Amino acid sequence: MEEMLVIRGGAPLRGEVTVHGAKNAVLPLLLAGTLTDEEVEICDCPFISDVEAMTLLMRSLGVDVAREGRRIRVRGGAKRASADGALSKTMRSSMFMLGALLATVREVHMPLPGGCNIGARPLDIHIDGLRAMGARVEARDDMLHCCADELHGADIVMRYPSVGATENLMMCASLARGDTCLINCAREPEIVCLARGLKAMGGDISGEGTSVMRIRGVRKLRGASLMPCGDRIVAGTLVAATAVAGGDVAIYGVDPCDIASVTDAFKSDHCLIDDDGVCVRVRADGRIRPVNISTAPFPLFPTDMQAQLMGAMCFADGVSVIDETVFERRFAHARELVKLGADITLDAGRAIVRGSGLTGGRLKGATMYARDLRGGAGLVIAALGAEGESKIFDIGYIDRGYERPEDMLSCLGADISRLPVAGVEAR
Ligand code: UD1
Repeated sequence: MEEMLVIRGGAPLRGEVTVHGAKNAVLPLLLAGTLTDEEVEICDCPFISDVEAMTLLMRSLGVDVAREGRRIRVRGGAKRASADGALSKTMRSSMFMLGALLATVREVHMPLPGGCNIGARPLDIHIDGLRAMGARVEARDDMLHCCADELHGADIVMRYPSVGATENLMMCASLARGDTCLINCAREPEIVCLARGLKAMGGDISGEGTSVMRIRGVRKLRGASLMPCGDRIVAGTLVAATAVAGGDVAIYGVDPCDIASVTDAFKSDHCLIDDDGVCVRVRADGRIRPVNISTAPFPLFPTDMQAQLMGAMCFADGVSVIDETVFERRFAHARELVKLGADITLDAGRAIVRGSGLTGGRLKGATMYARDLRGGAGLVIAALGAEGESKIFDIGYIDRGYERPEDMLSCLGADISRLPVAGVEAR
């Protein structure tokens, strides 16, 4: 049944939240679980549709995957070299099949993957790296065909620190013969988390969290119990929500260092943010300082927080300039935010947001449509600050990465509920 979020803005947020395991850590860890015949358990797996879709994808590869509450057990590797076509087409994370399947069954056939519609998202960095390790890769009729008789270590210079490519190459290199050196690799906390997971399984990795990672291939990996890092994007979204709505919120479950670029963006005399190494506390009166920010790979400002930042900057006391450098065309939320009365101008990869605090104008609730996962979260942030009622449709996008966002926010005092879409409103 189609559902929507109904939000009445203006209620301050108060209380404590613990964020769930990171979507972007759980997805590669699930596939890492296929690199051994022994059982791998992944703890704190959120109930979000991307995780559910990944378990279905893995089952279609013949992997034995079972969920027990927040734990998912993976027993054994893939039995087939191709997955359910529809699933792998719609999920960008199906790209992790490349590294995991090449490392085990030495063969993979998959449709070129999809995911959120945010730019071209090519796979050249993945493919270059896999080829350097001895894989043969061919793209034919919208399908990618890869195989390898043997995988060997290699020195791989990545032209851009792609998160997914780094993760694929880490998985592949862990079972390849010899040493691999990834130069200019990604440094995101989820990379560190995957490295820890692979090490717990007997992998030999060093340099994770820096731009040069070394991976010594091992003959076999073993079973383990793995814990994903907390979801820094969910935590960052809560920071944005509190900054806009005002209030006093303590966020647990995320390393404060992992969201430093986000907390720095929101900090002001009106939004005090501090941490004790364990908990990030946000105390805000609802006034927002404008920013001049570019998205970039970690540790700089994450592209996955750009929409939520924009949602917040609609209320700022001045003009914000937001440059999106990671994914082109990641501004679909802007034209929805305008429906609230926000003043946003787009110019290629730049958004200029004239905050309502500058003009003294007010943003008023409206009907908006989520266009992608984080963009949908950006609409929620703005609706929390707007006057009156907003309705957000197509929330299936939001459910891909946030576990029952309405419960998390209403526990803090937000006026938000999930309702079925009445026939006349459904599109
Ligand atoms: C991951 C995250 C996603 C996040 C993104 C950037 C997961 C499941 N998803 O996506 O939430 O927004 O990192 O932090 O972890 N690129 C190429 N060629 C390639 C690979 C990437 O040109 O072979 C480009 C992409 O088009 C994009 C940029 O590099 O412009 C970053 O992409 P990448 O870091 O690979 O993102 P994902 O791993 O897809």
